Amino acid sequence: MTRTWQAAPSVGHPMARVEGFDKVTGRARYAGDVALPGLAYGWVVPATIPRGRVLHLDVEAALAMPGVLAVLHQENAPRLTDIGEGTLFLFQGDRVPHWGAPVALVIADTPERAREAAERMRVDYLPEPPDCVFRADHPALYEPRFVNPHNETVTEKGDIDGALAAAAVVVDAEYRTPAQHNNAMEPHSTTAVWADGRLTLRTSTQYAYAWSQSLTRLFGFAPGTVRVLSEHVGGGFGNKGNPPRPDSALAVMAATLVGRPVRVTLTRPQLWPLTGYRTPTAQRLRLGADRDGRLVAVEHLAAVQTSRLVEFTEQVTMYSRPMYAAPHLRTGHQVVALDVPTPRWMRAPGEAPGSFGLESAMDELAEACGVDPVELRLRNDTADDPTTGLPFSSRRLADCLRVGADRFGWAGRDPRPAVGRDGRWWRGTGVAGAHYPARTVPSTAHATALPSGEFVVRVAATDIGTGARTALTQLAADALEVPATVVRVLIGDSDFGPAQGAGGSTGTASWSWPVVTACRDLAHRLASGEAVPPHGLTSTFDSTDAVRARHELARYAWGAHFAEVAVDVTTGEVRVPRLTGVYAVGRVVNPLTARSQLLGGMTMGLSTALLEESIMDGRFGDYVNHNLADYHVATNPDVGELDVAVVDDPDDELNPSGVKGLGEIGIVGVPAAIANAVWHATGVRQRELPITPARAA
Ligand code: MOS
Repeated sequence: MTRTWQAAPSVGHPMARVEGFDKVTGRARYAGDVALPGLAYGWVVPATIPRGRVLHLDVEAALAMPGVLAVLHQENAPRLTDIGEGTLFLFQGDRVPHWGAPVALVIADTPERAREAAERMRVDYLPEPPDCVFRADHPALYEPRFVNPHNETVTEKGDIDGALAAAAVVVDAEYRTPAQHNNAMEPHSTTAVWADGRLTLRTSTQYAYAWSQSLTRLFGFAPGTVRVLSEHVGGGFGNKGNPPRPDSALAVMAATLVGRPVRVTLTRPQLWPLTGYRTPTAQRLRLGADRDGRLVAVEHLAAVQTSRLVEFTEQVTMYSRPMYAAPHLRTGHQVVALDVPTPRWMRAPGEAPGSFGLESAMDELAEACGVDPVELRLRNDTADDPTTGLPFSSRRLADCLRVGADRFGWAGRDPRPAVGRDGRWWRGTGVAGAHYPARTVPSTAHATALPSGEFVVRVAATDIGTGARTALTQLAADALEVPATVVRVLIGDSDFGPAQGAGGSTGTASWSWPVVTACRDLAHRLASGEAVPPHGLTSTFDSTDAVRARHELARYAWGAHFAEVAVDVTTGEVRVPRLTGVYAVGRVVNPLTARSQLLGGMTMGLSTALLEESIMDGRFGDYVNHNLADYHVATNPDVGELDVAVVDDPDDELNPSGVKGLGEIGIVGVPAAIANAVWHATGVRQRELPITPARAA
């Protein structure tokens, strides 16, 4: 093949989503959309007690109902391997771990018949008194084994108590955030089909490859048995992360039992106890500083909840580890296991609630020292990670604060609270910093040149609506030195080999490494005259060794958020007419979809500041507002003017594309910026989310 043209670079230029047309015309098929001959439907029978045992299931009555093919339950389910995921150890005993946990699955020839039989099934329980209500002083709080697999539960540097005792100024305050549910638009759904000794799952996952591995181990299948397909995913925000969610394990069990394809789709209320949510948090911040606001001590301790099934600990106080200079620094976590559903990741797990604690406490310190809150943060900037001592790969926090202050019009702000009365409104402004770890996870990709002159790139990535697939198309095009129009990136297939999922803001950073390297290698082979055979010429790259060979540095994306609020003097309603977000996120591949991600993060931050709260009924162990009518998320009328900017920050040592990741940083710090602005407007400190009218004034 001879190339006679040189493509204009694609990276850095706006490009509409490559799958956008398919999505808006309905051509894109999601997990629950695929039509298959002989498809049967599984419907979950959820526990209606929070704790106890299943004594009896009236299976016979269900089997006698029209269209019912089988009922899966504790007596006939296949024995599973304990892979350390209690949420997937389904029907392996009679314990009820929480409200809504599956106690049976009815399989029928239509979803209506399955639902009818499931909802009528009589289940007799032996209930036990439940313990479902999270409290920061719960007697069963303990130190978890780990916060997440790569990070310590507790860090300690220097003499925190001594430094606080000697500090000229001390802020000592407690902050609370409620449980929140992810509520992606597409509910979880899995369709499982056996054919030729292999099991194919069409499912709604952020981690196609990892799910194939986890399910293979759970069921004790031979390696390579399970193929997971997830080309289009309608949002996730973390609750389609790894491990697989129960719908996938149930679909596998059911398809195996009845010998035909089975689909298990969860209703929105069923998502609440079964697919994850953000734990409530209680945080204590102690900051010690000199009179000029220079920090000498930062202590950030947090308590969270988990279920009886899994020790999942939200890494709340990791936010304080790299953020501001502090000679004396302590962070730690405690967790209490309750009779509640299992919490999981939700967009910026750890950093989202943790930044509410630290960035609110910094505002209180600014007030105590009489220092402007932007200036206070600049004074506490640091060249090295205060916890590990490692240098940062780049640290653009100060630039984000300065650029943001300029765009927002921060200069000349009257620092006094409750002086901004404007008719019916108290007006105020607030600021918060932000960071999110920049990580790259080993992945594999294949790049193929076809005789037609087109290129196909395969990587087991997932695009949950972020634009990742489009960014990969642009990166591949530039590496191949061809226009993006001749490059097709195929994703969402575990058969493409090991690859990171769409999580932790690591997706594009991780996938781009093998994509770019395989494409460069292929371009090199073509340029040196290698022929393209009829089936194509393929280069493959596995980034494992390259990722591990990098220097150890503290790698983060940085940001700053500025908020203007108006608080109704009579009702206490908080409006947010303006938000400015400025970010340093490595190289921006696609300014169009990058901006959308950051806008989406800021909107979700506004939503958690003012609206989102999952309400536990301690008698039943159920989050009672488990639908989109009663759980409020921000919609258009709630959102004012959003101003998004990025500062140039390529990081070519992180990965060959210089991408840091930007899926999550947009939410980090936004609730604190809004809470700080509400204090500035009204003089009332906001230490608990959401800032409802009753709390605001
Ligand atoms: Mo995100 S909570 O890492 O999917």
